[in-house]
Amino acid sequence: MPEIFALVPAAGCGSRMGSGLPKQYLPIAGQPMLYHALATLCANPDINTVFVILTPDDAYWHSYDWSLFGEKLQPLFCGGATRAESVLNGLMAAELELDDWLLVHDAARPCLSHKQLAHLIEVLRDDEVGGILAVPVADTLKRADAECRIVHTENREGVWQAQTPQMFRTGLLLQALQTAPNVTDDASAVEALGFHPKLVTSSYSNFKVTYPQDIELAELLLVQRK
Ligand code: CTP
Ligand code: MG
Repeated sequence: MPEIFALVPAAGCGSRMGSGLPKQYLPIAGQPMLYHALATLCANPDINTVFVILTPDDAYWHSYDWSLFGEKLQPLFCGGATRAESVLNGLMAAELELDDWLLVHDAARPCLSHKQLAHLIEVLRDDEVGGILAVPVADTLKRADAECRIVHTENREGVWQAQTPQMFRTGLLLQALQTAPNVTDDASAVEALGFHPKLVTSSYSNFKVTYPQDIELAELLLVQRK
C-alpha cells in the first residue's frame, strides 16, 4: 500500500506581509503561524510523516517547542529561492517511494480544517492523477490596466481559486517540478506534463495569509475553533 506523507514549504520571507519576522513565524492564536498547519497535518491518522521545509539558515525554528508532534514532524533545512524550489528540495531530501502520496501544504494556510484535509484524502486516494483543494470564484472578475481602470470583465464561469494541500504521487510531482520549475503551485507543474488534476471543493476559510489584515481574520477563525 502506498503511504501518505505531507510536506509544508515554510522557507519564504513574507515580503507582502512587510514584517521583520518571516510571516510563518508571526504569532496567531498564541502560536507561530506554521504551528497551526503542522498541528492539523500531524493529527491526521492517514498521514505517516509531516516534513517542514525551512531555509538552511532558519534562526527561529529552534526557539519553539515542537515536541508535542514527536517523530511525526521532521524539519528539513533545505528551502530554496522559490516555493517550487523549496518543494523540490524537500521532495529529494525526504527520500520517499515514487508511488507514495504527497500532500504539499503552505505554512501560510493555518486555517485548514481537519474535515477539509480528510475530505481531500478521501476523494483522491484512488485517483489516477491527484488534485487540490479549491473554491469556485464567487466575485465578478475585472481585468485592470496600469492605471487601475477596468479594461473589461472576465468570464468567471468555471474559474476556481487554487488552495493547498495539493496531493500527488511523489514520482509524478518530482518529474513535474523538474520539468516546469517556474510555477506558483504544484498542480501547475503537473498540468504542464499534460495531466488534469482534480478540483476538490473547499471553502474560503482555508485562505492564504498574505497581507497584514489577513492575520486578524486567521486569528478570529482559529480562536473560535479552540
Ligand atoms: N515558500 C517557500 N520557499 C520560498 C518561498 C515560499 O517555502 N522560497 C513557502 C512560504 O513559506 C509559504 C508558501 O511557500 O508557506 C506560500 O508562499 P507565499 O504565501 O507566497 O509566502 P512568501 O513567499 O513567504 O510570501 P511573499 O510572496 O509575500 O514574499
Ligand atoms: Mg511568495
